[in-house]
Amino acid sequence: MDVKSLAVIGAGQMGAGIAQVAAQSGVEVVLIDVEPLLVQKGLDGIRAQLDKAVAKGKLEAGSAQAALGRLRKGSSAQDAAGCDFAVEAATENEAVKRRIFADLARAMRPDAILASNTSSIPLTRIAAAATHPERVIGMHFMNPVPVMQLVEIIRAIQTSDATYATTRALAERMGKTTVLSKDMPGFIVNRILLPMINEACFALQEGLGSAEDIDTAMKLGTNQPMGPLTLADFIGLDTCLSIAEVLHKGLGEDKYRPAPLLRQHVEAGWLGRKSGRGFFRY
Ligand code: CAA
Repeated sequence: MDVKSLAVIGAGQMGAGIAQVAAQSGVEVVLIDVEPLLVQKGLDGIRAQLDKAVAKGKLEAGSAQAALGRLRKGSSAQDAAGCDFAVEAATENEAVKRRIFADLARAMRPDAILASNTSSIPLTRIAAAATHPERVIGMHFMNPVPVMQLVEIIRAIQTSDATYATTRALAERMGKTTVLSKDMPGFIVNRILLPMINEACFALQEGLGSAEDIDTAMKLGTNQPMGPLTLADFIGLDTCLSIAEVLHKGLGEDKYRPAPLLRQHVEAGWLGRKSGRGFFRY
């Protein structure tokens, strides 16, 4: 299927980023959230990003205008009714996601594809909530979506070959490179990234080095754009802890146990950049 229209459910940072990149690639987009203020905030953020790109000479003013013209607002699954494809980027809560998938399956055409941007919930369980589980797939974008090249595609055991082919083509049209992962805890990226971040938390806890030195070591010593503790703050320490718990529970090995220091930061409400304090202060 050639995807011409996309519904993005969830107007937070990830949803807005996905909507922006899709609109810039020529797809008609409806950005849906039960919270109208969030949709407005998402669209304002997209406009600011596009204006910035125009001011830097990286984007034609006409292209920015055209992308904005392809974006509209929505407030419920009903607004996704005419779309070819939906990407859910709501909160990482399985019950919420299953409800959204059931609503989308009812509202949309039976041949529409339903993707989730989940970073940790098994797609096979989300697919089980939809009337056409073969049309459900994982489409995991990285943050910040407009900058990061990768989309990790996850096939549930129910996902059909046609669904995978359409999803991959859509991601490529959005300018992304795709990788395919099985539906296992953490998929590929977080299976490997989270143990590194968690180990950095253990290293800090043990006093192996200061937070600054641990980050400088990894940033300059292994050519990463951010050190692991800065990246954890960027992702959100609550998100990191929840993914670490998924790996620990799902893979059942002690090596994945979350660092107590990470848990303590979350308990203190030091969630990283979004709360003004994590391993560093913002
Ligand atoms: N949205 C859009 N564009 C953004 C942006 C955002 N939120 N943040 C930065 N940018 C753009 C800037 O506008 C700038 O663009 P130009 O080159 O066109 O000027 C470019 O990115 C570089 O930004 P900066 O110069 O401000 O800062 P930087 O060079 O330090 O880059 C960064 C910032 C891109 C975030 C970089 O530090 C980076 O790549 N960090 C690692 C990010 C990462 O690993 N993300 C994946 C997290 S894991 C995940 O998402 C999966 C999960 O499930 C947890």
